[in-house]
Amino acid sequence: MIRARITGTGSYVPEKVLTNLDIEKFLDTSDEWIRTRTGISERHVVADGEYTSDLATNAARRALEMAGVDAKEIDLVVVGTITGDYPWPATACVVQRNLEALNAGAFDVSAACSGFLYALSCAVDRIEAGRAKKAVVIGAETLTRIIDWEDRNTCVLFGDAAGAVVLEASEGEHGVLSTHLHADGTQLELLYQPGFGTRLMPSEETLAKRDYFLKMQGNEVFKVAVRSLTEVANIALKANSMTAADVDLFIPHQANIRILDATSKRIGLKENQVYINVDRFGNTSAATIPLALDEANRAGRLKSGDIVLLDAFGGGFTWAAALLRW
Ligand SMILES: CC(C)(COP(=O)(O)OP(=O)(O)OC[C@H]1O[C@@H](n2cnc3c(N)ncnc32)[C@H](O)[C@@H]1OP(=O)(O)O)[C@@H](O)C(=O)NCCC(=O)NCCS
Repeated sequence: MIRARITGTGSYVPEKVLTNLDIEKFLDTSDEWIRTRTGISERHVVADGEYTSDLATNAARRALEMAGVDAKEIDLVVVGTITGDYPWPATACVVQRNLEALNAGAFDVSAACSGFLYALSCAVDRIEAGRAKKAVVIGAETLTRIIDWEDRNTCVLFGDAAGAVVLEASEGEHGVLSTHLHADGTQLELLYQPGFGTRLMPSEETLAKRDYFLKMQGNEVFKVAVRSLTEVANIALKANSMTAADVDLFIPHQANIRILDATSKRIGLKENQVYINVDRFGNTSAATIPLALDEANRAGRLKSGDIVLLDAFGGGFTWAAALLRW
């Protein structure tokens, strides 16, 4: 059987760091509140003139370098993002141009914080079907551009980053074992950006209502997130006749330490099986999983044959999991 195997990982975060103490200076909040409710201490923020495609391109270059793959060999560039450079064309096309991956098809996937796993599943399916041999899959976001810095309920949670993997067709047991995608559009207003799609265009009224910014009902989202992340992780394990004890590393979407702790416990995972970096980056949406995967990989935490469980939840709602044999 042909499998899609990760042969390179890469990530990139903007240089500028915004700590909770920095936020305290302009918002009615405290480092203590943010750390105890979210586990976040700091996040990275893009500079003027730095765009989602720049973060994505840097992450992809690092992944290609690790894989030893030339951009011209790539058949497919898929970017999971909800903060693309333009409404259209796809940020994947900007990245394809930057990389000079001129033999690749390129498209974006909009699944909010589940964007990377949705993008991964598209690329995996094309590779398993024999329609692509090498792909770059990226999760990249500049969420700090669409959060309302006057809304303390949301702005303390998010940061900017990109992560990427190179997938290659491979025979044998190593690679992506399965992917699982789910969605429920009935509650989409609990976490969304009302403007400026074609439904709410820029106008004096929509600007005054701050419709351009991300809106969220945090405690409602919290409950659905824990339930959905647990459910889909169990589905992925069951589909491969495995249990929590088989997992060498669990990399969940890094939204909030309390969500991660509650989810890990419900799945039956121990602390040493779970990768956490939300303290240093906050919630970087589609970028959290490939960023964490790259950190874990470069730190030597992944050994050949390890079982890795990836698990995401985001706006839509969307949720997804992938199980890999490293
Ligand atoms: C947002 C979140 C951290 C809030 O934590 P919470 O424990 O649910 O807090 P509540 O919403 O109940 O608010 C408690 C109080 O803290 C206040 N508060 C909210 N943000 C604050 C901040 N940054 N600083 C200080 N106080 C804050 C609220 O105004 C509220 O005050 P009140 O009781 O006087 O009205 C939490 O709901 C959460 O993490 N939700 C999931 C969000 C998420 O991860 N979304 C992305 C999923 S992909």
